[in-house]
Amino acid sequence: MRFDILTVLPGLLESPFAHSILQRAQKKGIAEIHVHNLRNYTTHKHKSVDDYPYGGGSGMVMMIEPFATCIEQLKSERTYDEVIFMTPDGITLNQSIANELSVKQNIIILCGHYKGIDQRIRDLYVTRELSIGDYVLSGGELPAAIVVDAVVRLIPGVLSDETSALSDSFQGDLLDAPVYTRPANWNGHEVPPILLSGNTPEIEKWRFDQSVERTKARRPDLLQ
Ligand code: ADE
Repeated sequence: MRFDILTVLPGLLESPFAHSILQRAQKKGIAEIHVHNLRNYTTHKHKSVDDYPYGGGSGMVMMIEPFATCIEQLKSERTYDEVIFMTPDGITLNQSIANELSVKQNIIILCGHYKGIDQRIRDLYVTRELSIGDYVLSGGELPAAIVVDAVVRLIPGVLSDETSALSDSFQGDLLDAPVYTRPANWNGHEVPPILLSGNTPEIEKWRFDQSVERTKARRPDLLQ
């Protein structure tokens, strides 16, 4: 699976992809992540990528040319399944969208900044607009990294134990049960004895009950 991320701040995306599972997925050749600096796709003097909004108002708007030139170049090299724009007014990312994206081959992600991007980019190129939640960040880079992380870990072969993605919170509409590790007693705070019993069916039942309880208490909407 290949991601091409278009941004004015490529440096913001260096670290998230250089560690842990995302790094391993790239080393294994399962995921390719390419970050493109939009400043390399402008013919504007001073390499500017934004301009004042038509009609006035505060804030700058990202221009169409750098996005269009970069997208057209990428599209001339391969076919893309999706062009995603990260924006707080998009559809909120959830596990089912991540599952859907994890079976695609090539995805472009556009990161906006300032007041937004020229609407014509959205009209002409974007197939899906995603938000990561009802709050406004300074740009689309961190949201893009979140989408890539949520999707790549679902690709078979990325996690060492493939079943662990399937048992994640949200995969079955239930939150995860609590987990514990050694020591069994920390200053008098003990691990639930059932987990030390070796009785696998009873442990599974306990975990399921805990998941249901936690979901009822924290996210009753998931049980509907
Ligand atoms: N860009 C700025 N805020 C965002 C958000 N909440 N989700 C996606 N992209 C964004």
